[in-house]
Order: sequence, then C-alpha cells, then structure tokens
Amino acid sequence: TVCSVKQALSGQVEAGRKVTVRGWVRTIRESKGGLSFVNVTDGSCFDPIQAVVTDQVANYETDVKRLTTGAGLIVTGTLVPSQGKGQRFEIQAETVEVTGFVDDPLTYPIQPKPHTMEFLREVAHLRPRTNLFGAVTRVRHTMMTAIHRWLTEQGFFWINTPIITTSDAEGAGDMFRLSTLDLANLPRLPDGKIDFRKDFFGREAFLTVSGQLNVEAYCLAMSKVYTFGPTFRAENSNTPRHLAEFWMVEPEIAFADLAADADCAEGFLKAIFKAVLEERADDMAFFAERVLPEAISRLENFIAQPFERIDYTDAIEILKKADQKFEFPVAWGVDLQTEHERHLAEKHIGRPVVVMNYPEAIKAFYMRLNDDEKTVAAMDVLAPGIGEIIGGSQREERLDYLDTRMAKFGLDAETYGWYRDLRRYGTVPHAGFGLGFERLLVYVCGLSNIRDAIPYPRVAGSAEF
Ligand code: 4AD
Ligand code: MG
Repeated sequence: TVCSVKQALSGQVEAGRKVTVRGWVRTIRESKGGLSFVNVTDGSCFDPIQAVVTDQVANYETDVKRLTTGAGLIVTGTLVPSQGKGQRFEIQAETVEVTGFVDDPLTYPIQPKPHTMEFLREVAHLRPRTNLFGAVTRVRHTMMTAIHRWLTEQGFFWINTPIITTSDAEGAGDMFRLSTLDLANLPRLPDGKIDFRKDFFGREAFLTVSGQLNVEAYCLAMSKVYTFGPTFRAENSNTPRHLAEFWMVEPEIAFADLAADADCAEGFLKAIFKAVLEERADDMAFFAERVLPEAISRLENFIAQPFERIDYTDAIEILKKADQKFEFPVAWGVDLQTEHERHLAEKHIGRPVVVMNYPEAIKAFYMRLNDDEKTVAAMDVLAPGIGEIIGGSQREERLDYLDTRMAKFGLDAETYGWYRDLRRYGTVPHAGFGLGFERLLVYVCGLSNIRDAIPYPRVAGSAEF
C-alpha cells in the first residue's frame, strides 16, 4: 500500500505490512557497515519517518549513498515497530527509487540547520520544506477549515464576494486601482492626460478592501452569512502586521446588535483555537519548544476565560492613568495605536478584551450611530501579544442616518445606491466583524512577522514568486 508518513506513523497501517512512502529526505545518516538511516517527510505531519536502508538494497552504492537533504524518493519496505525514541514505527526498506537528487547539495538553500526568517523569505518557494513552514502551513489549513466548519455549524452560509469592486468598503481610500492596460486605447481626459477613472473597460474599478458591503446584501436575505477570501490594502506601511494582500473572514448576522456580535466573535475565536490544539498538537508542540514557550498555554488561557468588554471611553481613562509612557498621546477621540491596545490587553486586563463604542469620527461610515451621537457601535477585539485581531460593528440600518454619515465621509450616494437600497427595502438591525486571518495565524504560531504567515507575502515594494 502507498501511504502517507502520517498514516504510517500513527498506527493507521498495521505493523508488518508492506508499505510505500513517497517524499523527500529530511536528513540522512550513514553508519558503518552498509547501513543508512533516511528520514523521509511528505508534509502530512510534523515528524518524518525513518527508513532503515541496508546494502542489500540493489542501488545502495549508486543511489542511496548519494542521497542528501531535499532529494525526492519512493521507499518501499516493511513497516516495523521502531527501537528509536520518539517514534513508533520505521520502514525496513526493500527498494529505494530516487526521483530526483539535489543538484549541488552544498549550495542547496534548505540545509538541515536553523535558518533566519529573513533568509527564508528570499526562498519562499523552498521554505515549505522546513520544519517551521511545514508546521505553519498545516496550522493555517486547520484554522481555515475550522472557520468554515464552525460557521457552518452555527447556520452561516458562505458567500463568495467579488475581488473586483467599484466601492471603497472601508471608505479609507487605500485601494489598488485596476487598469486594463490597453496601451493603444487609453481613455483620455480633454487635456490629453490618461483618465484612470475609466481605465477598467470604461469604468473605475479596484481590488476589494473588504467584502462586507456585498455580504450585508446577502445577510439581509439569508440572515447568517460570511465571506472569506483575499483582500487588498494599498497601505504603504512596512510593519510586521500589515500585508498588501491578506485573507479576511467576515461574518454578518441579521437581527444582531453589538453585544451579539461580540458574543459571536468570542465563540468563533475559541472554536478556532480549540481546533488547533486538538488537531495540530504535533505542530503546536514544536512552536512551544522552538518559537515561543507559551504558544500552547496562551491558547488554553484564551479558551478558558471570558473576554473582558470595555467601552472606548473607559479604555481612554485607563490609558491616561497608565504608568507607561506612550509614543502616541492619549485623549478622547484618538484612534487606539498598537501600543495602547497591547497595554490594555496585556498589562491592564491580561486577557482578550473587546473595546466597544468608539468615537464616530475615527470609524467607518457604515457603523451605527449610538444615542449619544458621539460614538458608533464599533468593536475591536484585542489580544495580549498582538493587539487588534478583529474589527466589527453594528451597521447603520436607518437610511437617514446612513445618508448623513456618507455625506460626512464624502461618499457619493449614486455609487452606493445599491447599498442604500438595503435600507430602503425591509431594513433590519444587523452586525458583523472581520478577522484578519494572518494576524491570527501569527498569534497562534508565535511568529513575529506576518510575512511568515502567508505562503507568498505581498507587501509594499515586494511581490516576488
Ligand atoms: O478593521 P478592518 O479594516 O475591518 C473591516 O475591513 C471590516 N469591513 C470588517 C467587518 O466588519 N466585516 O479589518 C479587519 C481585520 C483587522 O482587525 C485586522 O486583523 C485585519 O483585518 N487587517 C489586516 N491584516 C493584515 N494586513 C493588513 N494590511 C490588514 N488590515 C486589516
Ligand atoms: Mg480595524
């Protein structure tokens, strides 16, 4: 039987059976007397399986002794209980077929030794071969599937919202403009300059910054929906927390207010962490050992405690009294900076906190104005060690209020006509949030840079691979 390394190691295949494992050499050790130990990995789980190869194997001298880290191979042999510590099974190899040697093993970038993260970013096509990126990739998959599973269990429908849009969902202006680049027929302004506002087949179009507005339309028919896909932000910020292309999951719930929205966000995050701890214990043990000692315990604590909820206004009072000196001064009306968010979640409260009801002037146009007329029903979920991971709000469902806010933000009622319709035809209270998927993955794995949480990071000034 052909089986994965995971199947062979986990006891899914009976000992004594003849198995074929296909993968790559992680390490190889030759001992005296025609005996080699080849650790084979295929990405299916953290641990490699050891193949014990003797000189009874026909191509031992010609092939097996030439194997180096990274070579591709197919090993067939008997699965037997292992004497070695930390592994239950190994393969007594009968045949070893080498599908590809490594050209010039001395310059192969992925040597069996620690590499810097900076170096690995330069070889993004090879970094999935390392222990670390194998683990990140598996955890990423587990989190993605846990998100779909939990939302489905809660009765949400997955809506596929467009990547090409005409509206600025956040009203923040940090969008990538699309162009057909039809150089022979560029639309021109009367003065001869290129009219970029017509360069997408006679229209203006952008890459989406959020699927929220589109998903709201489906929410107001299907009740519980979410969108989950790549989103784009043309923020020219070179930080360890920002990507130009990142994945965002955005649930939207009809007949929900801000408190119900916060309940959903809390249940959602806890379900994701639980899935990671249950399904990726091998990878999490590696992160705890090699990357961040508290990688596992902090997820356990996160799950065990209820989130704290505080008002923005109270958060400002706490920050004003803090004995910490902040780079950005604190006053009612300012947006919270990462240093403020981390102070709240780490020093003051010491667990995840939902900050609610922010000043209306610093939040997006679609957020619902509170009765005080100074704040909107917005929430941010802040986590110790990272700061904001979720941003959400109750939406403005009253047309007159929405129009006032849109005018304030300089948004054109015609472009957003379809969005206004949602308030004209059977409007209901509704709320939702957005989770930056890579920010959460950074947190779970204890990484220090978001560029290591996505296979091919796109940031200002870099889009290789
Ligand atoms: O707070 P944001 O901008 O909220 C929205 O886009 C809303 N439409 C969400 C909603 O209510 N449906 O972004 C949501 C989250 C942030 O909390 C952050 O985790 C992440 O997206 N995020 C980024 N992640 C990586 N790189 C960037 N440049 C990011 N910008 C936001
Ligand atoms: Mg935000």
